Amino acid sequence: MKNILAPSILSADFRTLGEQIKMTEKAGAQYVHFDVMDGIFVPSISFGMPVLSSIKGLTGQTLDVHLMVTEPARYVAEFAKCGADIITVHLEACKDLKKTLEEIHRCGVRAGISIRPGTPVKSLMPYLEDAEMFLIMSVEPGFGGQEFIPESLERIRTLRAALEKDGMEKDIEVDGGIYHSNVAEVLKAGANVIVSGSGVYKGDVFRNTAEFMEILKDYE
Ligand code: DX5
Ligand code: ZN
Repeated sequence: MKNILAPSILSADFRTLGEQIKMTEKAGAQYVHFDVMDGIFVPSISFGMPVLSSIKGLTGQTLDVHLMVTEPARYVAEFAKCGADIITVHLEACKDLKKTLEEIHRCGVRAGISIRPGTPVKSLMPYLEDAEMFLIMSVEPGFGGQEFIPESLERIRTLRAALEKDGMEKDIEVDGGIYHSNVAEVLKAGANVIVSGSGVYKGDVFRNTAEFMEILKDYE
């Protein structure tokens, strides 16, 4: 399965955001991970539509929008219009998850479902057919720079086994606390879309990305 790097711009230096995104693209990262926070589903507030629109014209990378927002169905059409290629919503944040996923698909966008570290993996099982990607949070959503929760590995294995049992080759994305030092464990557990904020954007962005890409290729 193809492994994908999704650098999270939450940890970027916003004075030179465009240049930094271009560096991740040059070094091989296929996605831009775009964390939207509403101050209600998570304590913090990040950025939204106008920032996404300006990135859309800048890069050829897939725009991977992670909505940490209560009742995200309210914003799906707007984010699709601004250029999202993938929209991931939190299972815990949706009144009607199936309807929300349908709305994402209606907008011509790929759908993802995310769960917080405390939400059982089995709660995803009724929805395996309804999304293209599943996002296992390996930190409590809300902030970059937190430590990877080791129990996440078992959760990834459980989900990959369930998908394989049903003959489904779908994307498992993992988000939070991933660096060069622990990414191999995450890949070996069965993830294929790796989000990294601090691991890419703190320090030399080009080198950090290139080094991630080498490890990702080794595990394809
Ligand atoms: C956390 C966000 C993450 C965050 C990851 O709520 O969803 O995407 O940017 O940052 P790191 O890689 O620094 O843990
Ligand atoms: Zn994220």
